[in-house]
Amino acid sequence: MGRVDGRTVLVTGGARGMGAAFARRLVAEGASVVLTDVLAEEGKAVAAELGSAASFLPHDVTDEAAWLDVVAHAEAAFGPVSGLVNNAGIVHVDPIAALSEADYRRVIDVNQVGVFLGMKSVVPSMRRAGGGSIVNISSIGGIISFTNILGYVASKWAVRGMTKAAAQEFGPWGIRVNSVHPGVVATEMTADSARSNSMFHDQPLPRAGTPEELANLVLFLISDESGYSTGSEFVADGGFTTQ
Ligand SMILES: NC(=O)c1ccc[n+]([C@@H]2O[C@H](COP(=O)([O-])OP(=O)(O)OC[C@H]3O[C@@H](n4cnc5c(N)ncnc54)[C@H](O)[C@@H]3O)[C@@H](O)[C@H]2O)c1
Repeated sequence: MGRVDGRTVLVTGGARGMGAAFARRLVAEGASVVLTDVLAEEGKAVAAELGSAASFLPHDVTDEAAWLDVVAHAEAAFGPVSGLVNNAGIVHVDPIAALSEADYRRVIDVNQVGVFLGMKSVVPSMRRAGGGSIVNISSIGGIISFTNILGYVASKWAVRGMTKAAAQEFGPWGIRVNSVHPGVVATEMTADSARSNSMFHDQPLPRAGTPEELANLVLFLISDESGYSTGSEFVADGGFTTQ
């Protein structure tokens, strides 16, 4: 028996990094997964590796009309959607004085508006499924702050708040919504920082996290094992925010 047998789960940003690890873990525990991403070749390769329980669709999370197609595809292929992992995200590094409005808006659009559109688009299908679980990937940048990534910090604090607002609205339908706050995890997004051990000096667990460690947390939140948790923050940061 898998821990998420029979679930249909959407994972955005599933072509690489944490999203690909989430898809692998969920399929291993019995879910059918639809991966989406703007990186088509990488996304197709991950789905091919996972076999008949996975399918890839090219999709930009900022495109609301295409969200409806993604949900319709998932429902036709595997049945009503009962899990969504809003994982796609980007970071832009610049001090505020040098940050262009276009770069700021692009980060907000992908990281914040994309999460809103995802939650809005899956709810009818989740209601048909009889309930579900939405996991929004925020960051410890949604709890504290870091310099030179204003748009990222703003978007990740927004995701934390939107998670609570959605949990309040969706709870009566049996739909739970929680946020996950990773510290530094070794993926392409952090290729430079994850290699520099100096930034882990004061961290109780002095290393980067792995995508698989975050996948275990996401699996728990998608599964019924987390059945009484909604509107909550789940931190996995090696203790960074104890400082
Ligand atoms: N790696 C870390 O240390 C870390 C820490 C905290 C939070 N996060 C968050 O975790 C999530 C996954 O990050 P990752 O580290 O795996 O990074 P990553 O860059 O490896 O993966 C992000 C994926 O999102 C996709 N993507 C980007 N824009 C998109 C769009 N508009 N539509 C659809 N897909 C899009 C990318 O193509 C990529 O495949 C992100 O939301 C990120 O902000 C990462």
